[in-house]
Amino acid sequence: MRTTIADLSAMKTRGERIAMLTAYDAPSAALAERAGVPALLVGDSLGMVVHGFETTLPVTLDLMVAHAAAVTRASEKALVVVDLPFLTYADIPSAVAAAGRVMRETGAGAVKLEGAGEIVHIVERLTALGVPVMGHLGYTPQSTHQIGLKVQARGGEAARRLIEDALALQAAGAFAIVLELVPAALAAEVTKRLSIPTIGIGAGIGCDGEVQVWHDILGLYPTAPRHARRFGEVGAAIEAAVSDYVKAVQAREFPTDANSSKMTPEALAEALAFDSAAE
Ligand code: KIV
Repeated sequence: MRTTIADLSAMKTRGERIAMLTAYDAPSAALAERAGVPALLVGDSLGMVVHGFETTLPVTLDLMVAHAAAVTRASEKALVVVDLPFLTYADIPSAVAAAGRVMRETGAGAVKLEGAGEIVHIVERLTALGVPVMGHLGYTPQSTHQIGLKVQARGGEAARRLIEDALALQAAGAFAIVLELVPAALAAEVTKRLSIPTIGIGAGIGCDGEVQVWHDILGLYPTAPRHARRFGEVGAAIEAAVSDYVKAVQAREFPTDANSSKMTPEALAEALAFDSAAE
């Protein structure tokens, strides 16, 4: 039985913090779930950390569907939330079609949409149609060219707008909201005012939960954003292991008999006799 949006709501009520993590493929999903992650985000950050794009904007719905399907196939218990990519939810018909594909073709339990304003009525329509929607406020990467990669809503007016946006998304039926790169005091204030969980990233300790990017917490790249902590140095471990592999191949230490299959000398002789007869 997978984690449900009601389970996340109950975690907020109990004051139990929600540890969400991105997952983009089968092994990361299985490992994260075994480690106790209750909710996996197939974020469109995969465009940057997996596919090497500079932003999330080139990510397509086909790409999201392929990655999300791998994540749901490899997990059994986690709620899987999938980002709808840039401009796939610009109006209600597009949003319904995009969310429909994600829910039908991947087996995910929810979608995530960035922003408020124009997006609120789309959230309302999707939730009315039975699609669980997670909101995303603060730094919204799909608007990076407009807002810049920096902490958002530091000023009084922008902070007030963010609180209003969060309340509007909640009223539209969102089951949770990601708060990315917003001042900790503001995120804590939003969290107090909402009945739905807030999930922070670069938003301090006052949210109901946290979401981080797989590659950032595992040290898969030489640098990680300030809001991340490297809980492991998996990149260095992979590099050392691959380097050992290269050396073992070059030194003829690998593969050994244990990695190889045998045949009888008679069978080999028969094959070679057949081979020379053909010549
Ligand atoms: O795409 C993503 O991984 C995200 C998280 C950073 C919240 O949206």
